[in-house]
Amino acid sequence: MPSTLFHLDSSPLGEASISRHLTAEFVKNWKLANPDGTVINRDTTTSAIPPVTAAWVGAAYTPEDARTPDQRELLALSETLIAELFAADEYVLGVPMHNFSIPSTLKLWIDQIARVNKTFSYATGAPVGLLTGKKATVLIASGGSYDAGTAMASYNHAEPYLRTVLAFLGVSETSFITAGGAAALMYGADRQTFLQPHVDSIRAQFQAA
Ligand SMILES: Cc1cc2nc3c(=O)[nH]c(=O)nc-3n(C[C@H](O)[C@H](O)[C@H](O)COP(=O)(O)O)c2cc1C
Repeated sequence: MPSTLFHLDSSPLGEASISRHLTAEFVKNWKLANPDGTVINRDTTTSAIPPVTAAWVGAAYTPEDARTPDQRELLALSETLIAELFAADEYVLGVPMHNFSIPSTLKLWIDQIARVNKTFSYATGAPVGLLTGKKATVLIASGGSYDAGTAMASYNHAEPYLRTVLAFLGVSETSFITAGGAAALMYGADRQTFLQPHVDSIRAQFQAA
């Protein structure tokens, strides 16, 4: 059966974005490996995702068949965003580090897709993720370096947070590639030279598959 890839970008920097360059490389390789596959694109910077409100939370916790038309309307975008995740077998997420964490538009997206009895459940008392059988690759770009074991490692709230969220939602197979040290590009480092090892890591994932 043809596969479906969910491709999300969250950098506001367009062509200049490192994470967008890396997701584009991933998508190019994925299409070569899945010529009959479908790609679903989602850009959190252009999706006008609203913050959750009390009314939204009330709607989300109202049983589906008891929701008013207004409540259904409030949840419509969330339903669309969640349907994209269920429709895909595999995810690639492009994430710039912003203030040691993820961009605010990506957080807005997470708040819309983390839905009780949709993408997670506490029906048995313990949390169970409902996005099962999915594989995710997260491509992070950061100005600084936050390698494990370094003094800066504890400042990195992007990767640990995304690992937690994906695991909570049931995505058990995850792989993270971080292009750290992108700030060097502002001081004259060559973009292609900077990108190459990360592009190679992405290509290696497909060669290994
Ligand atoms: C608003 C903003 C906040 C940033 N905060 C951090 C930060 O906390 N730590 C860091 O290492 N780099 C930070 N950076 C640098 C970005 O992580 C870096 O430019 C990276 O390449 C962004 O990914 P992108 O090129 O895909 O947008 C920040 C950049 C912006 C625009």
